[in-house]
Amino acid sequence: MSASSEDQFKNIVSHCKEYGFIYPSSEIYDGLSAAYDYGPYGVELKNNIKDYWWQAMVRMHDNIVGIDAAIFMHPKTWKASGHVDAFNDPLIDNKDSKKRYRADVMIEEYVEKIEAKISKEVDKAAKRFGDTFDEAMYRQTNPRVMEYQAQIDAIKTRLANCMTNGDMDGLKALIEELEIADPVSGSRNWTEVRQFNLMFSTQLGNIAGEEGKLYLRPETAQGIFVNFLNVQKTTRQKVPFGIAQIGKAFRNEIVARQFIFRMREFEQMEMQFFVRPGTEMEFYMYWKEERMKWHLALGTPAEKLKFKDHDNLAHYANAAVDIQFEFPFGFRELEGIHSRTDYDLKSHQELSGRKLQYFDPELNENYIPYVVETSIGCDRMFLAMMSHALVEETVPDADGKDSTRTVLKLPPALAPIKCAVLPLVKNKEELTDKATAVLHKLKAHFPCQYDEKDAIGRRYRRQDAIGTPYCVTVDFQTLEDDTVTIRDRDTLEQVRVSIDEVTARVLARTSMANLFA
Ligand code: GAP
Repeated sequence: MSASSEDQFKNIVSHCKEYGFIYPSSEIYDGLSAAYDYGPYGVELKNNIKDYWWQAMVRMHDNIVGIDAAIFMHPKTWKASGHVDAFNDPLIDNKDSKKRYRADVMIEEYVEKIEAKISKEVDKAAKRFGDTFDEAMYRQTNPRVMEYQAQIDAIKTRLANCMTNGDMDGLKALIEELEIADPVSGSRNWTEVRQFNLMFSTQLGNIAGEEGKLYLRPETAQGIFVNFLNVQKTTRQKVPFGIAQIGKAFRNEIVARQFIFRMREFEQMEMQFFVRPGTEMEFYMYWKEERMKWHLALGTPAEKLKFKDHDNLAHYANAAVDIQFEFPFGFRELEGIHSRTDYDLKSHQELSGRKLQYFDPELNENYIPYVVETSIGCDRMFLAMMSHALVEETVPDADGKDSTRTVLKLPPALAPIKCAVLPLVKNKEELTDKATAVLHKLKAHFPCQYDEKDAIGRRYRRQDAIGTPYCVTVDFQTLEDDTVTIRDRDTLEQVRVSIDEVTARVLARTSMANLFA
């Protein structure tokens, strides 16, 4: 991470804490690694993200319905899904620092360093050649870049082979050949690489031993698979149709870093789309595009999002792509779209002995549907929104002088508070009474906040910092003609409008319906 990206990331973490978005979990005991608590503004923003997803998936599609399955599931679920046997990450310990790493991630980070060298060469050449620069040609012909690219290709191929074949010795050999050192201690004194299952387990109260072993679900998807026929029969949906769910998932991540990007307890928003076998690629392409549109509708610049095909397919998939977002620490997975074949339903059918088949009235035949899944982490989406929205900028203050403000330019539909109501001064009862009356009128329509402490300029800045799109100021003229000033977070424009107009103005910009338009 460059120094400026590192600063940006630190700013996001401290802003989240200072303004009540996210606190470290059980902080009075020095926190618990990779667990976080959402504060008053955080929970509102997170709920809005979930609401946007739910409305886009369930409300806007007649053929998608929702469920809310239990976190605990019969232990056989995880045997059938493959998680007991295959939900592993390759783990390596450094014998000197006693630090634990994911072997595959260390190799990927090594590759990223070579990629950064290529980018540097390309940037230098672009400056040298100016408008005539042909980047694609340069990448194909420059000897140094070609050499770097060959190294990358060779490493990626070996990594993919090792991961596909579960070749832990191969990973260790690669780490040794690349002379990868512990980033903390610089030591190359590594243990063997071994598989580490990411599921947390616990015990049922009334059954002793292995029989009573339960897992905290590592993905919400299985709650959908086991309910597939229940939902299909009770809603009379016809293939193709989808089932959506939002809920907590748990993974005992080996390296849980980067704030809420990789947590041990997190929330997923998943949708399984059940299709006729043979049509899955058509729906895979459809959902790829639909999900990208969902992100772009929030105003996220297209250059901050990209597709990245998976190099290693999960045990259940025949095609998979990530939507990556440019976080301060680089492009990383935000959402996955996976063609999961009939793997899950077939395995559940075999292990449970219950038929999980659909009778297709048009084909007049029974089959196990294929599944295309969209899966996005709610917390990662939160971090993506924060990363893009948090900016420092220079704006004119009340005296027309330049001043710096920190502003959270969240999409208005996601902002925790839509409108703040501020009496111009706090010690005038007529003003505070009037402002309170305005607040009561508005808060039936959207989340509002009343603030009378400090000078008006400081109150504006506080609202900017939590992303409030509008501030309504009640002043002495309000008492005479029932008008207020309404200030726009982004343009800073202030206009005087009648109190009766405020609700419509705020709704026009903050309504979620705007995102679907
Ligand atoms: N059902 C498929 C599935 O779970 P995944 O790629 O492992 O696929 C889907 O996870 C999404 O869940 C990811 O794209 C990411 O946004 C989120 N996610 C996964 N692990 C996470 C973690 N440890 N912390 C936060 N979010 C996570």
